[in-house]
Amino acid sequence: MSTVLRHVAEWKTVAASLGRDSMLGLVPTMGALHDGHAALLDEARRQCSLVIASIFVNPIQFDQRGDYDLYPKKLDDDVAFCEAKGVDYVFAPSEREMYPERQRTFIEVEELSQHLCGAYRPGHFRGVATVVLKLFNIFQPHFAFFGEKDYQQLAIVRRLVRDLNVPLQVVGVPTVREPDGLAMSSRNRRLNSRQRSLAPRLYQALTAAREAVAGGETRAMAIKERALTVLTNVPEIRLEYFELVDVETVQPVAVIDAPVRAAAAIWIGNIRLIDNVLCVPPALRS
Ligand code: PAJ
Repeated sequence: MSTVLRHVAEWKTVAASLGRDSMLGLVPTMGALHDGHAALLDEARRQCSLVIASIFVNPIQFDQRGDYDLYPKKLDDDVAFCEAKGVDYVFAPSEREMYPERQRTFIEVEELSQHLCGAYRPGHFRGVATVVLKLFNIFQPHFAFFGEKDYQQLAIVRRLVRDLNVPLQVVGVPTVREPDGLAMSSRNRRLNSRQRSLAPRLYQALTAAREAVAGGETRAMAIKERALTVLTNVPEIRLEYFELVDVETVQPVAVIDAPVRAAAAIWIGNIRLIDNVLCVPPALRS
């Protein structure tokens, strides 16, 4: 049985009763849970004796109110999902519980937030980093689990933990995909059948970049050009960005002489999809 906690104070009572040797794992989510989230919960279950999933659609990370309003909020389904995954505690606070006063303190992870999604969603990563640090402080977990699907977010959380000496280990979990390669996302449910049939092109473009790098191409421009052909010949797809970035600093790289992350965002209709893959030059492949 998963116990649902609505208030921070309820957790304090639970925490006081925990043995010193329990290993706490936190999986922060915004709900609308799917098999991508399941991979995080499974990994947490494997590594930790006590698993907490948070479900909170964090208003301060949405740059557009409409996007926040549209975000699916079905707590009962999410709690049932967590229960099936063996989650011990589901933390589902209200907006008031997380932000009782107007938030005046924000976490800004410089440089890493500059490119990719950070360039198109002002304030987004500041909102993510702030809520994530709040959750870390509330639960003080030993491990926190994040998906590679949101690669820039993962890199930012890793950096925030290092820079602020947060005493926990961040675990990155590989992206879970549909059989045709489309990365699982709560946004996929909004695609109509034509849009859904186009969506795997995002992963195909990223895979083309991975293959170009594996084949020895080192010029980012040439790699991008090759990768983009599967996206640019479809009028329904609008490219937001396609970049090859350093795996730690998330800065664009012009010449590939180390592993990089190919990351892209596209719009299909009014639905925004992001994805990324690791690209390793031939000399560094094991
Ligand atoms: P959300 O989009 O709900 O995602 C929660 C976690 O699930 C993130 O770490 C995300 O990378 C991971 N995830 C989503 N789809 C995945 C997939 N297909 N494969 C693997 N992992 C996947 O990301 C957030 O919420 C929020 O920004 C949050 C960190 C909770 C802060 O509010």
